Amino acid sequence: MGQQERADVADWMQIIDIIAKKRDGGEISPAEFEFLIGRYVAGEIPDYQMAAFLMATYIRGMSKGEMANLTRAMALSGDILNLSPLVGCKVDKHSTGGVGDKVTLIVAPLVAAAGVPVAKMSGRGLGHSGGTIDKLEAIPGFFAELTEGQLKKNVAEVGLAIVGQTANLAPADKMIYALRDVTATVASTPLIASSIMCKKIATGADAIVLDVKCGSGAFMPDLPEAQALAQALVDIGEEVGIRTVAVISNMDQPLGKAVGNALEVKEAIMVLQNKGPADVTKLSLFLGGQMLFLAGHVDSPQGGEDVLKEILATGAAWRKFRDFVAAQGGDVAVLDTPTLLPQAPFKFSLRAHVGGYIAGLRADIIGQVSMDLGAGRQKKDDVIDPAVGIVLARKIGDPVEVGQLLAEIHANDEGSGKRAMRQVLQAFTLIPRPVSPPPLIYKQVHN
Ligand code: URA
Repeated sequence: MGQQERADVADWMQIIDIIAKKRDGGEISPAEFEFLIGRYVAGEIPDYQMAAFLMATYIRGMSKGEMANLTRAMALSGDILNLSPLVGCKVDKHSTGGVGDKVTLIVAPLVAAAGVPVAKMSGRGLGHSGGTIDKLEAIPGFFAELTEGQLKKNVAEVGLAIVGQTANLAPADKMIYALRDVTATVASTPLIASSIMCKKIATGADAIVLDVKCGSGAFMPDLPEAQALAQALVDIGEEVGIRTVAVISNMDQPLGKAVGNALEVKEAIMVLQNKGPADVTKLSLFLGGQMLFLAGHVDSPQGGEDVLKEILATGAAWRKFRDFVAAQGGDVAVLDTPTLLPQAPFKFSLRAHVGGYIAGLRADIIGQVSMDLGAGRQKKDDVIDPAVGIVLARKIGDPVEVGQLLAEIHANDEGSGKRAMRQVLQAFTLIPRPVSPPPLIYKQVHN
């Protein structure tokens, strides 16, 4: 046997040993993670062996150290953005994904207006409505594909840039996620947490505030699961030296009233002008307060919230949003007159057949309807329609009388609009007794 052949056999054994170790509940070493991830990305470990490792992880879980080492190995599989030339603590914010979640559009200019630089890489959405970049691209002219140099220039000049993820950002994560999707291993806390955090390391954040969504429209439907994910994220942050706080927030009903890309931009503008829905405003201020605190800008998260309330009231955050959109090529006239945003040709009003109180408003159903209308992607290459979506007129706890508006559907054609009306009605539960609105923020997790 030649030297190369012997090396190949040694590698072959090594991957089998790693799989067996995880299967039997052993601790995978940093070198083993580097081997596993490096060789997988290089195409030297086949999908079936990685799938076996993922399933063993799904069943056995991972220690705090293992999660951090896997996260590091995945981050190092591609480009690492170097934000160190930018002055100040670069603080990022990430949401695990929810229906109607337009908070990044609000919190990024808020925090930047307070003087803390925000250099954010965001994904395009899969499922539900679009991701942050899809929402911003509903603004005519907005350009998210900045080079690293342009990103840094915009952050230095405007204080804020939001760009799409580069193709070579954590390629291991893209490959592993695609495999998890077809091997029933998506819902694994260590795999979700390492997937989220590797992209944050790769984008050069010094500190991160994570919004872990919990409820029917979220990855994590129950509080104990959301709590476990929040703790895993914070633990990884601690191990890799990124200051991290996780906030668990409610996703049993959509956030705010608008679901759909242009509709959510319009709602974000309302919030930035201090006349938006109370829940989006409250969550944005809460998360922003945490960001200012982690960046060392204030002495406490509450102090951060107080600063941001003031900034919102003076219109500074709104002006920062306009400057940021202009710097990335977006048409600011559209922001000033949101009726110029893409408009769906058909609008349908869904009205209550019975009176009572809204006791439930299933975020998962609203998210699915929004996607069926064309606001989200089923597959990675699907083209989204920026104009379509749903505007909710009532939320949990609100009273409603017969004939009053429950929601407005914005559709591209009559058929999809009428279908959406029937489905959105299923999302509402009405009861005769008054109902208290659910809590918006459950808890925060930090080490
Ligand atoms: N978001 C990610 O980035 N990765 C996951 O695995 C789940 C949610």
